Amino acid sequence: MGNLPPCYYDGRLRFYLIFIDMISIQTQLRAIVSTALGKAFGAEYSEIDPMVVPAGRPEFGDYQCNVTFSLAKPLKNSPRNLSQQLLDHLDVSDICEPPEVAKPGFINFKIKPSYLETQIGALQSDSRLGVEKVKDPLKAIVDFSSPNIAKEMHVGHLRSTIIGDSIARILEFRGHDVLRLNHVGDWGTQFGMLIAYLREAYPDALTKADALDLGDLVAFYKKAKKRFDEDADFKETARKEVVKLQAGDPESLKAWQLLCDQSRREFQQIYNRLDINLTERGESFYNPKLPDVVADLEAKGLVVEDAGAKCVFLDGFTNKEGDPLPLIVQKSDGGYNYATTDLAAIRYRVKEDGGDRIIYVTDAGQANHFAQVFQVAQKADYLPENVEVTHVPFGLVLGKDGKRLKTRSGETVRLKDLLDEAVKRAYQDLETRLVAEDRQETEEFKTDVAKTIGLSSVKYADLSQNRTSNYIFDYDKMLELKGNTAPYLLYAYARVQSISRKGEIDYEKLDADAKVLLKEDQELVLAKHILQLSEIIKEVESELLPNRLCQYLFELSQKFNQFFENCPVLKSDEPLRTSRLILCHLTAQTLKLGLSLLGIEVLERM
Ligand code: ARG
Repeated sequence: MGNLPPCYYDGRLRFYLIFIDMISIQTQLRAIVSTALGKAFGAEYSEIDPMVVPAGRPEFGDYQCNVTFSLAKPLKNSPRNLSQQLLDHLDVSDICEPPEVAKPGFINFKIKPSYLETQIGALQSDSRLGVEKVKDPLKAIVDFSSPNIAKEMHVGHLRSTIIGDSIARILEFRGHDVLRLNHVGDWGTQFGMLIAYLREAYPDALTKADALDLGDLVAFYKKAKKRFDEDADFKETARKEVVKLQAGDPESLKAWQLLCDQSRREFQQIYNRLDINLTERGESFYNPKLPDVVADLEAKGLVVEDAGAKCVFLDGFTNKEGDPLPLIVQKSDGGYNYATTDLAAIRYRVKEDGGDRIIYVTDAGQANHFAQVFQVAQKADYLPENVEVTHVPFGLVLGKDGKRLKTRSGETVRLKDLLDEAVKRAYQDLETRLVAEDRQETEEFKTDVAKTIGLSSVKYADLSQNRTSNYIFDYDKMLELKGNTAPYLLYAYARVQSISRKGEIDYEKLDADAKVLLKEDQELVLAKHILQLSEIIKEVESELLPNRLCQYLFELSQKFNQFFENCPVLKSDEPLRTSRLILCHLTAQTLKLGLSLLGIEVLERM
């Protein structure tokens, strides 16, 4: 490993470091199995997936290789015999105890403690904790959050914001070039109604220089909608406003800008609180490009006119009658759709942004929309083979009653109120805990801790669920100090920090060459877990499931607690004391890094 430069990171915990050549145990085993496959069965077999995975049960060892199950057929032999043959060519003696073939035909690998000691020792001087940077970074585009102007930024957008941010952080940490795009809904016929209402209710708005405060924009939207639904003349005015806006009338554009600015300010407050970084590129950006997209589709012979609407017919999508379903790209009145904008966006993201991997984080309800848009984009040659587009769907946020989350009066929950409530409750919990522990803390400490716990609990509760399922929003549960919650993980981190305070130890100054000794079971279990970080990160990078990282960090905290309860740290004699302190420090660093990738900040004390 040699000498490493120090680690630099900016406020957003993005690490800038040179590439470090530290290969995970799983990767090493895979390489060894691949070589053996080639030797045992012929060169072409060294190309197949060697199927080395973490062992299903600890008694089987640490990793298992299942590859011979898929070879039984082509090689006309039993998995067990094949595994035995493979074993003859497998040299893992540096890493593992002699591997064994288990009954049905798996090969089990048990990592040698001495090897673990070397690996964990090497992590000490690696601020990336063994997570390599990719050799060929991609241009990744993550389209997330994307609320609609003048409408509610609701819990669905909150999910998109939290999940999208975590995905972006993980891709960034792996070294990809990530463009975080906020595809806000800032264009469309609703603006006719809003502008008409703005002129009516705030006649000065367009002439006065100061930024206007429209108050609650959601209430503004509702009032505008009411006028629109109830008054035919108003409706006509609104329609004319759409035409004027489309035609680029300066006053209409100014009114539109005013409304967008007001919304933007409100969204930004939420992003600031949650430490979310986004580049806004809303639907309006693509508006001038829409006629071109339709022309393009027409030139490629994809467009069919149906009752005046321009449609592209889709494969595999049919209506109730079994007839093929069209994607309407231009309505009979000449207007364009949400889908047309997404087609323009794909084209732009590939051609202009050079995107290789384009990711859309929205609720599962939009799955069909994206499948259709992707299909048309493919037909239109907007998607070269090397470009991957992925919809990352998530489920609903439910109240404790199992229904969509609502306030007591049945209104949609405002995000600001939701975050305030989480922080308020975290503050109350903290006060109770301080009384119980007979501690005195300053107001500043309490506010700060409550803020971090409250906000991270909301984020973690969301991220720790498999995103594809619905999840129940429950303040009590997410704020608990026990279980798979943010407070539990933050507490494990703070616990490690308290050890150093108690022993007056500076973790950064521990002897970097000191040997880590792994004798007790809990030490081995903890070390193995720490060493799995890079595998987990790579898995999340490909599957886009942040809950895997949450589960990993939760188990890390549990394993650390078991270690700490069974293995004295400060009271041990050297060299064990330093060895255990290193394990403590590595645990804390892993937690801090892992949590930062979820958008969660740690607390030194709580
Ligand atoms: N504004 C949309 C909504 O609130 C989400 C946009 C998602 N991104 C996209 N490219 N369609 O549902």
